[in-house]
Amino acid sequence: MITYVGTSNPGFAPYAMEEIRRRIQGTKVSGLAPGETFSFTTGDHDPEQLLTDLRRKEPIFLRHLFPVEREIDVTDSEKGTAKALRDYASTLGDRIQGRKVAIQVRKEQNSPFPFASAEGRDEMVPAVEELGAEAVAREADWIISVYATKKKLFMGCSTPRDNLSDWPGGSVRFRKDEGLISRAAFKLLEAERAFNLPLDRFSNALDLGASPGGWTSVLLERGLKVTAVDPAEMDPSLELHPRLRHIRRNAADVSFAPGSFDLLVCDMSWDPHHTCRIVSELANVLSAGASGIITLKLMYRKPFQSIQDLTEDYAHEFDIRKVKQLFHNREEVTMWVKKK
Ligand SMILES: C[S@@+](CC[C@H](N)C(=O)[O-])C[C@H]1O[C@@H](n2cnc3c(N)ncnc32)[C@H](O)[C@@H]1O
Repeated sequence: MITYVGTSNPGFAPYAMEEIRRRIQGTKVSGLAPGETFSFTTGDHDPEQLLTDLRRKEPIFLRHLFPVEREIDVTDSEKGTAKALRDYASTLGDRIQGRKVAIQVRKEQNSPFPFASAEGRDEMVPAVEELGAEAVAREADWIISVYATKKKLFMGCSTPRDNLSDWPGGSVRFRKDEGLISRAAFKLLEAERAFNLPLDRFSNALDLGASPGGWTSVLLERGLKVTAVDPAEMDPSLELHPRLRHIRRNAADVSFAPGSFDLLVCDMSWDPHHTCRIVSELANVLSAGASGIITLKLMYRKPFQSIQDLTEDYAHEFDIRKVKQLFHNREEVTMWVKKK
């Protein structure tokens, strides 16, 4: 049996833990940092098979996991902690020799762990290099994960795909572009990666609830034509863009010729059931097989029920491909659909 450390968005650990309980018979789940991290065991499952299952059908709220291969009491001693980190790294030769290795160190706010993330990493690098591995930040073959709570220090080594994310704890960071129109743009950039759906594959997008234009600007940068629907203004930097048409209306009141768009994106801040009705009524303006990226707002404090009801409603017009709470989602999840 293997124990994992799991991470979700802040406040959503109870739902991630519930997903684990539903998926893994015999698992033991317990909280680590309130609302965000927890541990769980593989229970009655074969660990390899479990990872395959989790990758194939990713849980919605579990953002990241890593296997606990060493667990010790955490202390504030720099010397003792540095030795513990090096000792663990030095056991990994068989796996990491000649490979690229990322070292990801995280700590809970109240942990006595004496190092900042980068310092903890630096303590491990010499041991990793001594084994003939190359320490890298991204595109690693293996990830050494270190996580310190108030009481414990957990360490493990796994592949990026088994962690469900190659970012520390699944915290996806994009470089902050100077001219970014809204932070919402990060959601679409993250969705593109999470759903493995390069946006430049599409040519004609309908963006519902587009103002101030973060998503629209990403789509324009990818070379798409964009029809943006929102009663609110778009960022002035976009208004004159030659591939953008802005329709200043409620999305419930617009219509287009059938098959006009091969991509629909929707980040409308409205009741998710109204949004579902509007998007479903507009389904015929999409070409067959068109994709949709839609945020589902979790307004009713019953995420599982809301997601189930909404996906059932969307399923009349769309195949539901994936629903995931992205790092950049707050009280919402993001769904990828394809028009039937
Ligand atoms: C979270 S913001 C969208 C941010 C946008 N995705 C971006 O990247 O800048 C939500 C937008 O939905 C719009 N909205 C809400 N209800 C709408 C409706 N019925 N029709 C069109 N837009 C709507 C709001 O005016 C608001 O601008």
